[in-house]
Amino acid sequence: MYPDAREVMTGMTTMDTLENLGQWSTADAAELYQINAWGAGYFGISDEGHVIVRPDTTDAAEIDLFEVVEGLRKRNLTAPVLIRFSDILAHRLKHMHEAFATAMSENGYKGQYAAVYPIKVNQQRAVVEEVYRYGEPFDFGLECGSKPELLAVMALTTETPDRLIICNGFKDDAYLEAVILSSKLGRRIIPVIENYDELRMILKHAARYDVRPRIGVRIKLSAEGTGRWAKSNGVKAKFGLTASEVLDVFNVLKERGMEDCLQLVHCHPGSQLNDIGCVKEAVGELAYVYAELKQMGAGLQYIDVGGGLGVDYDGSQTNFYSSMNYRLQEYASEVVYRIGSVCDEREIEHPTIISESGRAIAAYQSVLVFNILGRCGLDELGDEVITRQLGEHAPQPIRDLIDAYISVNERRLLECYHDAVQAREQSQLLFRLGYLPLHLRGLADRLFAATCQKVRALASKLDSLPEELLALESILSETYFANFSVFQSLPDSWAIDQLFPIMPIHRLDEAPACKGVLADITCDSDGRIDRFVDLSDVRHTLDLHALRDGEEYYLAAFLVGAYQETLGDLHNLFGDTHVVHIHLHEKGGWWIDEVIRGDTAAEVLEYVQYDVRGLVNRIDRDGEKAVRDGRLTLRESQILLRFYESELAGYTYLEPEVTGAD
Ligand SMILES: Cc1ncc(COP(=O)(O)O)c(C=O)c1O
Repeated sequence: MYPDAREVMTGMTTMDTLENLGQWSTADAAELYQINAWGAGYFGISDEGHVIVRPDTTDAAEIDLFEVVEGLRKRNLTAPVLIRFSDILAHRLKHMHEAFATAMSENGYKGQYAAVYPIKVNQQRAVVEEVYRYGEPFDFGLECGSKPELLAVMALTTETPDRLIICNGFKDDAYLEAVILSSKLGRRIIPVIENYDELRMILKHAARYDVRPRIGVRIKLSAEGTGRWAKSNGVKAKFGLTASEVLDVFNVLKERGMEDCLQLVHCHPGSQLNDIGCVKEAVGELAYVYAELKQMGAGLQYIDVGGGLGVDYDGSQTNFYSSMNYRLQEYASEVVYRIGSVCDEREIEHPTIISESGRAIAAYQSVLVFNILGRCGLDELGDEVITRQLGEHAPQPIRDLIDAYISVNERRLLECYHDAVQAREQSQLLFRLGYLPLHLRGLADRLFAATCQKVRALASKLDSLPEELLALESILSETYFANFSVFQSLPDSWAIDQLFPIMPIHRLDEAPACKGVLADITCDSDGRIDRFVDLSDVRHTLDLHALRDGEEYYLAAFLVGAYQETLGDLHNLFGDTHVVHIHLHEKGGWWIDEVIRGDTAAEVLEYVQYDVRGLVNRIDRDGEKAVRDGRLTLRESQILLRFYESELAGYTYLEPEVTGAD
């Protein structure tokens, strides 16, 4: 009746098999995580199986990321930690400059190029200061999108008043007064009029302080963008002036004999432009506005093509929203060519081209490294021997699950999978109704998982996978608990499904053992990552190594330097992580230039209006009461108070266990 009905679950995966055969190499890891595709030359894998950072994209200088993390741990800077590679930032700026220089020389363009870094992309003082410093040889400037951003920029530019400052965003009277005062201080600053009323306020302050202002106008382009930020353009765009409003601005200035003050036209075609087609359309339209106004007598000198230059987060070089179907050089060439050809056609001088690329400058420099705290997966059968006899007296769903498990073969894959799904549902129903004991409910779960594993192993040999079986990857994936907060450190992953490349930073000479998803340490089921980069699609699991007792397992999220830091929030009061700036040393190796320690518990509590001293006093009083009532000894109450105070001064993330006596 029960031919060869004995089967033992081995739990072996394809990866284990590869490892056992000794075939795994770091080249396989590079292929699996696609590091060469999204890394853009900045990241690679060493023979030792560690992620390496190549700040200038060549192997002339390399930094071992795992070695950096270990070095930080020895300095009591435990994960999670955000590592900024300042030399990558410097390289990005040089790369931008060179791309435009090449495009200009190839197209016979006679004007200049300057990038202005939009500080909203990452306003952290250390980042803005570095961008400003590394951008100096190229005369790059800064862009502000709000009054507070301008207040910072005003002070940062005291020594270099000639470097351009562009002011975008909603502007009130005081914002525009600050702009005019900055002009008075000698800054080369251009407020970009985004709505008509701003002109009145600019003129008011210019008259009051006797300043001849430089003025820009933001054009509401008719061409709509693509991707997530498509609505930055088109007639319904939030910002910008219509064609007739632009003419009104020009006419008002002309009436006052101030047409020379209109010096810049601007557009912003949206962020993360994934299709070069929209760059062509937007820049072409802007160039015609420029040419028309110039021919009418405006004092135009600058054409500002806004931001939007993408980052190829998944490395696929496609028009997928996390990618882009063009490279920096193509972008620069398109911008230069479109502007140059319109100006040549209208026989006007080539203007200075400005771009406000933020993401493309800032993303690559930062890497968020976090450790894995533990994992949970589906219950496994272990060494249990499963026979049909085992289920002889069991309720029907258990018998069905045993049958499904034993019967899995290549011809009946889907059928067995369906049987298992149905039987498991029935077993759960029986349990909820009180008819199935807990141990059989546990057996049902383990049988279901084991059946799925067998189905997946056989299915991997098929040429094409039935669609329903695609779900097996997620069903069988493990959950790895990661010591960070998605809401604080990768808010775009949660809010807009942004994909960031994530992978282990060590053990890459070892085949990963399983597929998993990541759950962060917030008490929120949304605090997880189950979408990962892939060249042709989105992966729903990440290949991960088995955890080893007493050994940290580190993963990193890459390309996180743009938008993530200040958009992050304090969910569950997990604060800013530690941040370190790592520099290449001229004699080889690396050094730590700056350490910004992560928020302490006291800092995040103060941020949400707790009086931390008051909290300590309350615990002190409570301890005294406990001593009086005999619940604590005096010594214990002192230990408690010291513990409370030191935790207030401690990191908000999970820290390694303290071993040894108090
Ligand atoms: C006016 C303006 N300029 C520049 C940028 C920077 O864009 P990105 O980071 O995509 O280059 C933005 C961002 O949306 C923006 O609104």
